Amino acid sequence: MNNTIAICPGSFDPITIGHLDIISRSAKMFGKVIVVVMSNINKKNSGSFTVEERVEMIKKSVADIPNVEVDHFEGLLADYAKLKNAGAIIKGLRAVTDFEYEFQMALTNKKLNPEVETLFLTTSAENMYLSSSMVKQIASMGGDVTEFVPQAIHNDIIKRLRKEV
Ligand code: PNS
Repeated sequence: MNNTIAICPGSFDPITIGHLDIISRSAKMFGKVIVVVMSNINKKNSGSFTVEERVEMIKKSVADIPNVEVDHFEGLLADYAKLKNAGAIIKGLRAVTDFEYEFQMALTNKKLNPEVETLFLTTSAENMYLSSSMVKQIASMGGDVTEFVPQAIHNDIIKRLRKEV
């Protein structure tokens, strides 16, 4: 295990098992992983959960992984990486559709902070289709999201999103 600090950034609105898979695989490769909730300018007013709720749900989901910390930050990812002395930003790649946007962000972050490398982990095949917005839509329409979200936060999500509960 190397002692580079790695950051897993995202909106996490809410965290899914796809995110958790990327976080736990990162935790096996890096001495310390910081999961940080940030704003995505393209999703600005579409948040369903507050930043505090997202942080709490991530904390519950990673409670059994000792080298993972959870944080939130309003600002640039490149600045946060500098602040935390991080050497790596880890992103999960689901499909070709993710690639162009992620590639643009990786190059921009490299320009803003040359000390940090962006690394892409391919998502596990069973999570290819999964996204926070799918989870929200399914839960809010009464569907079963048991297999899509960490078990520790399943009830939180149902309570909050399922209209009839
Ligand atoms: O889970 P998401 O929404 O795909 O995560 C995107 C996120 C939040 C990591 C990205 O929008 C981001 O880095 N936001 C912080 C602000 C920033 O640094 N923007 C410039 C990136 S080039």
